[in-house]
Amino acid sequence: MNTNNIAVIGAGTMGAGIAQLAAAHGCTVHLIDLSAEVLAKAVADIRKRYARSVEKGRMSTEDADAAIARIRTSGAIAGLDDVELVIEAVVERLDVKHAVFASLEKATPPSAVLATNTSSLSVGRIAERVSDPSRVIGMHFFNPAPVMPLVEVIAAKESSPESVSVGFDAARAWGKVPVCAKDTPGFIVNRVARGFYLEALRLLGEGVAGVDEIDLVMRTHGKFRMGPFELMDLVGLDVNYAVSASVHERMDGHARFAPHPIQRALVDAGSLGRKTGRGFYDYSGEAPIPAQGVDRQSFELTPLLSETVLAFTVRSGAPTAGATEQYVFSRILAAIINEAGFAYSQGVADSADIDTAMQKGTNYPKGPLAWADEIGHETVAGVLRRMNEMVTDGRYAPAPLFV
Ligand SMILES: NC(=O)c1ccc[n+]([C@@H]2O[C@H](COP(=O)([O-])OP(=O)(O)OC[C@H]3O[C@@H](n4cnc5c(N)ncnc54)[C@H](O)[C@@H]3O)[C@@H](O)[C@H]2O)c1
Repeated sequence: MNTNNIAVIGAGTMGAGIAQLAAAHGCTVHLIDLSAEVLAKAVADIRKRYARSVEKGRMSTEDADAAIARIRTSGAIAGLDDVELVIEAVVERLDVKHAVFASLEKATPPSAVLATNTSSLSVGRIAERVSDPSRVIGMHFFNPAPVMPLVEVIAAKESSPESVSVGFDAARAWGKVPVCAKDTPGFIVNRVARGFYLEALRLLGEGVAGVDEIDLVMRTHGKFRMGPFELMDLVGLDVNYAVSASVHERMDGHARFAPHPIQRALVDAGSLGRKTGRGFYDYSGEAPIPAQGVDRQSFELTPLLSETVLAFTVRSGAPTAGATEQYVFSRILAAIINEAGFAYSQGVADSADIDTAMQKGTNYPKGPLAWADEIGHETVAGVLRRMNEMVTDGRYAPAPLFV
């Protein structure tokens, strides 16, 4: 089905980006925000971004003018009798989202699909106050929405397959790559990516390597575009920490998701990454330099662990130079792969969608489950079991997929 008439609630970072995207693809967009100032800024920003596309030859002036004319702003949820799809992108608070969905139910035809762009709340809980929750789905865009290719389309328990299809088709019509995921903490990307960040933080905390060394290993050995610390600095340590804390809480405090005290301390100190000029790196000079030191500890791997780490590294296609590098790389990649395995085993998404999500949502060089196939499930499980022997909280216990 073609969705031609949509509403976007909330005109902040995400709402403005989604409105820009949909209007450029021919949709009439009712863009609604409580704040007239936010609405004016959103339209001005969208106009600027269209102008940049015109300059770069990606859009004609006529198309840009037509797209901006398709965006209608309003300060209230009303006049939505003919919308087919609504995407809610207001602040991440359940009470606010409940109120917005209650208004949406009154203001839209019963056939309209109501989607939330929430990153960390349960879609099912947001739908609780809607009398027909089969209309409610998640459409999780990534920032910046006009640029990032992935949309996670979330099916809550009560979402109808027809509603999910509407979200899926709309994302596709807007040039996005949609994947389907169940309504579980962190969906796919924000859950599987925890391994990348949290394992890197644990290695730093254990004194195995410094932030620049860990970043370099992940870029050279893993071909990741950015290392975990530079990426956390870019995303914002506060934002990244909040995602870890929320997934940890909703996963009943499982040790795999425990936020790290080093990150907490930096957030408390206001070192939030690039946006404050300092995070894991200091950005005040010409080139970033590590701002977070490492209390280096000597470590010795058991012969069995060294052997497994070497096999894991070789089979993953990474260079084998340096025992510390192999160890850092294997621990981080194994943590990512294990979480992807848990997500698969728990039915969050199929393996193709998990891999696509990690490649398109966070630019991973390979899908973690395809990588696991290349390495061999036995080798993946071997590294995880050996790692699990070093801790008491079972955080590295291999996912059922690998055993
Ligand atoms: N920023 C990201 O990187 C990102 C990525 C994916 C998903 N999300 C999710 O998208 C949603 C929006 O995030 P954001 O970063 O765009 O937030 P934001 O703070 O930039 O924008 C939120 C907007 O909602 C408006 N608003 C608040 N209550 C409202 C109401 N009752 N009616 C209408 N408008 C209302 C505010 O005025 C504000 O302009 C959140 O659920 C967030 O979790 C954010």
